Amino acid sequence: MNATPRILVLGASGNTGGAVAKSLRGSGAPSSGVPIRTTSTKDVRSTGTDHVRFDWSDPGTYATAVAGVDRIYLIAPVGVADPVPPVEAFLAEARRAGVRRAVFLSSSAVRTGDPGLGQVASLVQSVMPEWAVLRPSWFMQNFVGRHPLAEAIRSSQEFVTATGSGKQAFVDAGDIGATAAALLVDDAAHNSEFFVTGPESISYDDAAAVLTEATGKPIRHIAVSVEQRVRQYVDSGYPADFSASLASLDDLIRTGQNDFVADTVSRFTGRPPRSLKEFMSEHRDKLLTP
Ligand SMILES: NC(=O)c1ccc[n+]([C@@H]2O[C@H](COP(=O)([O-])OP(=O)(O)OC[C@H]3O[C@@H](n4cnc5c(N)ncnc54)[C@H](OP(=O)(O)O)[C@@H]3O)[C@@H](O)[C@H]2O)c1
Repeated sequence: MNATPRILVLGASGNTGGAVAKSLRGSGAPSSGVPIRTTSTKDVRSTGTDHVRFDWSDPGTYATAVAGVDRIYLIAPVGVADPVPPVEAFLAEARRAGVRRAVFLSSSAVRTGDPGLGQVASLVQSVMPEWAVLRPSWFMQNFVGRHPLAEAIRSSQEFVTATGSGKQAFVDAGDIGATAAALLVDDAAHNSEFFVTGPESISYDDAAAVLTEATGKPIRHIAVSVEQRVRQYVDSGYPADFSASLASLDDLIRTGQNDFVADTVSRFTGRPPRSLKEFMSEHRDKLLTP
């Protein structure tokens, strides 16, 4: 392997991939200054950087993406019924090209071996000699990006969940990216799963109070039952089984299963994760306008 590994960052236009690329390109952090390649499904114009077209639905794009690469930041295809077959084909191509390490983005809500992301986590662990699986809690970006939660806040200054007063430690995708970057450049291959959280476990009522303070306008969390939440998803056009699985994520929080704080961000980046209040003071302009 090269003395300095070349790192492929998938999803570099997204929340976490963008933060991984920023950390690896930036200065000052231990992970900075490493050669990277980024990808997009969109037209790839000459940007003066190593940037290639990559599309999960087009296996013909896999070999170019992994050529000359040593390590990969991996996010699974989003919105596909079964992400395992394309990831399996991609990792086989990556291993043929000599890639040894993958840092894979899973979720705190998904155990290794569970359908979907959990099966991809199992695959990563069996195929890659060096790996880390990140299991973040819910992203702070859900309040300000293209997420349905953010869209509800922008349109009505309120949002609905079935989480009750259950708590979780929302995490800034920037901190996930910085942690992933540190794991990608680390000499040690940790071959471990890591929960990744913000600094404090809070409820959606607490979060609404933070948003209200940030904007100076009342933003309300409306708590409904899990059954009501399923009906709402079905009424908005989602299939029944998908609606039930979305609502079950709220139930996980409601029942306290996501109520914990992990020290992963500070352990690997050397600084504490950002609080929701700090995040919102920077992003308050995006809360009520797109
Ligand atoms: N939101 C949460 O609270 C939360 C919590 C835990 C885990 N997660 C997990 O986080 C993951 C999403 O990560 P993220 O938020 O960093 O991503 P994101 O912001 O949703 O961005 C998705 C990325 O995927 C790329 N992409 C889209 N279609 C593609 C295709 N066909 N082939 C290749 N690339 C494609 C996009 O790039 P282009 O458009 O440039 O092609 C974009 O950079 C999901 O697996 C989700 O389950 C989310």
